[in-house]
Amino acid sequence: MTIPVEKTRTPKRRIPEAELGFGKFFTDHLFRMDYEEGKGWHSARVEPYGPIPLDPAASVLHYGQAIFEGMKAFQQPSGMKIFRPGQHAARFARSAARLCIPPVDEKILLEGVKTLLRTDADWLPAGPGTSLYVRPVIFATEPFLGVRPAKSYTLLVFLSPVGAYFSGPARRLRIWVERERARAARGGIGGSKAAANYVASLLAAEEAKKNGFDQVLWLDGAVHRDLEEIGTMNVFAYFGGTLVTPALEGSILPGVTRDSVIQLARSWGIPVEERRLPLEELAAAHRAGKLEELFGTGTASVVAPIGEVAWDGVTMKLPEPKKQTLGERLQAEVAGIQRGERPDQFGWLEAV
Ligand code: COI
Repeated sequence: MTIPVEKTRTPKRRIPEAELGFGKFFTDHLFRMDYEEGKGWHSARVEPYGPIPLDPAASVLHYGQAIFEGMKAFQQPSGMKIFRPGQHAARFARSAARLCIPPVDEKILLEGVKTLLRTDADWLPAGPGTSLYVRPVIFATEPFLGVRPAKSYTLLVFLSPVGAYFSGPARRLRIWVERERARAARGGIGGSKAAANYVASLLAAEEAKKNGFDQVLWLDGAVHRDLEEIGTMNVFAYFGGTLVTPALEGSILPGVTRDSVIQLARSWGIPVEERRLPLEELAAAHRAGKLEELFGTGTASVVAPIGEVAWDGVTMKLPEPKKQTLGERLQAEVAGIQRGERPDQFGWLEAV
């Protein structure tokens, strides 16, 4: 299929790579589709990036019927490639189903993403650690105040040239364990990429930041015992020669980088357990000197090492790495595949 492209007449200034950071700049165009009941998703097109009119009664503003995705495109010697777009599209579809948003044809979505990437290809940064971050979002636009799924929606996909997610020099993160509040509960929408999950995390994250921490480690919403996820990342602990990460039981995000890290570690012969991981088990492993590493994974942050975890009078400092850590090896492998510097043995890359 061919998606029509309307080019901007006012291209923006291109951003020097040193200024990029994460999610601050947006390219010249976006991909858009609209949905109305009876008509389905229609009018797929690429058009100039800009503000969009929204009715004050649009139900997304009141009841939060909104989902998003985040994937990345990279500069490779053989051209632009997207990392695991099919996985992101499939998760977007699962999020849509959970939030009663009508399904989008994954082929049209991915064709829209590629058309947009080709239109704004000259925005793709080339330096190490940079990429074009692709942000699809769907929100309910119907002006109606009754509580039920909306009858009209807009889908937008836009692009942000990005560098590292965490600002400042590369460092190991300081993490605060939230012991009272919950981000999500089993049976809720924590496993979907719903906008609402992120607002639920803000207050604890702000408090943690005020106290000098980078992000919050969430525990399960029922009894606050088992690890769930960290801020914008899935969490992994390496101890006793095994990599352990919380199982997907509906309240945490099924991260694409999480899945990539699990596949890579297993291919290197490292046992990976997806299971419930009580904070107390982690603390006991640390007290016994067995906790080697903790790290977070995410599309935006890739593999982010953790240097310290603290809660209620306890500070768990992770050992200073003396040689390349497992997290560093995973980070180097994922980044190497993404940049075409290592073989794409799992077929994770798709040409644009
Ligand atoms: C990502 O890692 O792509 C995410 O979606 C996290 C984000 C909210 C910055």
